[in-house]
Amino acid sequence: MTTTQHDGFATGWYVIATADDLGAQAVLPLRYFGRSLVAFRGASGAARVLDAHCPHLGADLGVGGTVVEDTIRCPFHAWRFDGDGQCVDIPYARSPKIPARACVRAWPVRERNGLVFVWYDGLGRAPSYEIPVIEEHGSPEWTGWTVSKMTIRTQPREIIENVADKGHFPTVHGTHIDEFDNEFVDHMAVQRSAGVAYPRGGGSDRFRLTATYYGPAYQVTVMDSLLPNRLINAHTPIDAHSLHLRFGVMLKRVGPDDKMARYTEAYIHNLQSGFAEDVQVWENKAWRDRPTLCDGDGAIGALRRWYRQFYPAAGAMPGAAAQQEGTT
Ligand code: FES
Ligand SMILES: [Fe+2]
Repeated sequence: MTTTQHDGFATGWYVIATADDLGAQAVLPLRYFGRSLVAFRGASGAARVLDAHCPHLGADLGVGGTVVEDTIRCPFHAWRFDGDGQCVDIPYARSPKIPARACVRAWPVRERNGLVFVWYDGLGRAPSYEIPVIEEHGSPEWTGWTVSKMTIRTQPREIIENVADKGHFPTVHGTHIDEFDNEFVDHMAVQRSAGVAYPRGGGSDRFRLTATYYGPAYQVTVMDSLLPNRLINAHTPIDAHSLHLRFGVMLKRVGPDDKMARYTEAYIHNLQSGFAEDVQVWENKAWRDRPTLCDGDGAIGALRRWYRQFYPAAGAMPGAAAQQEGTT
C-alpha cells in the first residue's frame, strides 16, 4: 500500500469504543493514532480517555490498571489519576504534595448514540463541531446497534473515497445504481443514492439512502430498504498503515426479538461481505494523488478538497514522525 499525500491524521471525532465495550468500572487499553491510550469509566459514569503511559515510571495504565472511585490506579506503584489526567493520590509519598508534573494528557471525549468518541487534533485545538444525536437510538421501535470491528491495512482516505466513488458499486458490490449524488457542506459530506442491491446470498433489495460523514471519520446512513435501517461506518487510525473500521447496524423492529436478532445477523453478514469486497481492493491498491479519471467517475476531486480541510494548513502540519508517541 502506498500512503497518503497528507502526513499525520485528520482532525475530528473518532469512535474508539462502543458504550457497551466500556461498561461500569471498565478499563480498556487502546492503540490509536500511533499512541497507547487508556479509556476508563469511573464512579461518575463518565467515559474518560488518557494517554496510557504513567508519568512516574511509565507503566501502561490500561494493562492491569483498575478503577478506584472516579480515578484509574496505575498497576505498578498505585498512583491514581482522575479523568483530567491529574495525579490525585500517591499512597507512599512522604509529603502530601503531589509532583506538579504527575499528570497525563486527557483527550476530549463524547459519548453519544451508544458510542464513545475522542477528539484528535495534531495541533491540540479544541473540538470545532459536535456529533449529532441519532433520534432512533434508544427508541423501543428500533434495535440497538450490532457493531462489528475489522482491522484493515489501509489509510483513511481509501475508506472516505467510497463516498464519491460511484463507479465501484457495480463492479465490487454487484449493486445497480439508479441515482447518485454528493453534497459537501462544512464538515459534512453527503452521499444520496438509490438502486438495487443483489445480496450475495440471493434475492434483490431496492434501496434509497442518505449517508453523511460528520467530520473525517464517522458516517451515519439512513436507509430505506426491505428493512428500514441506520448504519454507522467509523474508522479510527491505529497508525499510519492500519485502522479499525467499525460497522454498526440498527433495524426498525418489525417483529419479535428473536426474529429481529435473526434479521440483524443476516443483514450484518450481508454488509460485512460488502465491506470484505472493498477490503481486498483497499489492502492491495496504490494511492494515486493524481488519478486518471473519466466523466462517469463522480465527485472524487470535490471529495478530496472537502477532506483536505481536516488537515492543518501546510507548514503547520505535523510531520508523520511528530505523530509518534511522546513527541507531541
Ligand atoms: S509507573 Fe505508574 S505508579 Fe509507578
Ligand atoms: Fe465500497
